[in-house]
Amino acid sequence: MSLVEPAQSLSPEAAVTQSLDAPLVAIVGATGAVGVELLRCLEERDFPLSGLRLLASPRSAGQTFRFRGQELTVEALGPDSFEGVGLALFSAGSGVSKQYASLAVAAGAVVVDNSSAFRMDAAVPLVVPEVNGDAIARHKGIVANPNCVAAIATVPLWPLHQRHRIRKVIAATYQAASGAGAAAMEELRQSTAAYLAGEAFEPRVLRHPYAFNLFSHDSAMDPETGTNGEESKVMAETKRILNLPDLAMGITCVRVPVLRAHCIALTVEFAEPVTPQAVRDLLAAAPGVRVVDDAASNHYPMPVEASGQGDVLAGRIRQDSSDPSGRTVSLFVAGDQLLKGAALNAVQIAERLVGRS
Ligand code: A2P
Repeated sequence: MSLVEPAQSLSPEAAVTQSLDAPLVAIVGATGAVGVELLRCLEERDFPLSGLRLLASPRSAGQTFRFRGQELTVEALGPDSFEGVGLALFSAGSGVSKQYASLAVAAGAVVVDNSSAFRMDAAVPLVVPEVNGDAIARHKGIVANPNCVAAIATVPLWPLHQRHRIRKVIAATYQAASGAGAAAMEELRQSTAAYLAGEAFEPRVLRHPYAFNLFSHDSAMDPETGTNGEESKVMAETKRILNLPDLAMGITCVRVPVLRAHCIALTVEFAEPVTPQAVRDLLAAAPGVRVVDDAASNHYPMPVEASGQGDVLAGRIRQDSSDPSGRTVSLFVAGDQLLKGAALNAVQIAERLVGRS
């Protein structure tokens, strides 16, 4: 499908009458790590749109990107950026979302927001389409895209819960640089090169040396609970997406020197005994999951294989030996933080909004 019209040619009247049938789409944060993937997902999935507006900070105005054979120029985000826009995909941080999402909605757009700004707002659906896609219909202008770990974890947890009812989840994450944005990915590349060259490197984006190192997630710690901001978000959002407010959950979030795919070790307690084979069979049939569980060749989910594709890889499925009742199973999953953890999930939501799926 070709790009029909550049954004500027739509008249103000079109803004009033435009439905989500092939809308004018805006990407806010188009130059960021997720923004670039949003552009790619729209192109690869042949998303029905009548025009595409790329928005970022004034620093990036004038930068160009190719989309469906045309060159699009990035504009500086401003209060008038949403005139005529039917669908706005936000990925520029929660400050930008808080400032501009309501302006986009007032201009007639539906917002899919990748920041944490509205995720726990009861009036805003928080959606992983494979899990709770029906919630999109209840939106009042904004649909929230979840935290990347919550999105990646809930895809395999949901089919397991539907069959065997999950009571408790203990998780440990291995989170890639991309979760901290394009600048953190670049810091990983540069600090690794410096390390290998035997040169000193002063971290600028992350607080700690990243090359050949790992560290507790760099979000603020709650001194009362000892839980950091990322851990709190993942737990709250996982419970909300699964509609399990009383789920017992504990998590440790760790940043590892991997570019763009997150891994999660999950230990899941069910309401009844469940065999690893039953878990394997359920996941093999689940949308958005690919089982990678080959003990003979020690082939399990890995970031290099999760990167650049949309499935959540699941493997190392085994009974948890600390629970003799047989109700607890451990598994290891990997998902592309920029895709299922961000851009792909947002575009899947957008596809529902335009009646595509
Ligand atoms: P820019 O590249 O012009 O700074 P990442 O998560 O990879 O760091 O990307 C963040 C994205 O959000 C970038 O596209 C960035 O644009 C954009 N952004 C950050 N701050 C603003 C702002 N105040 N207004 C508009 N876009 C912003």
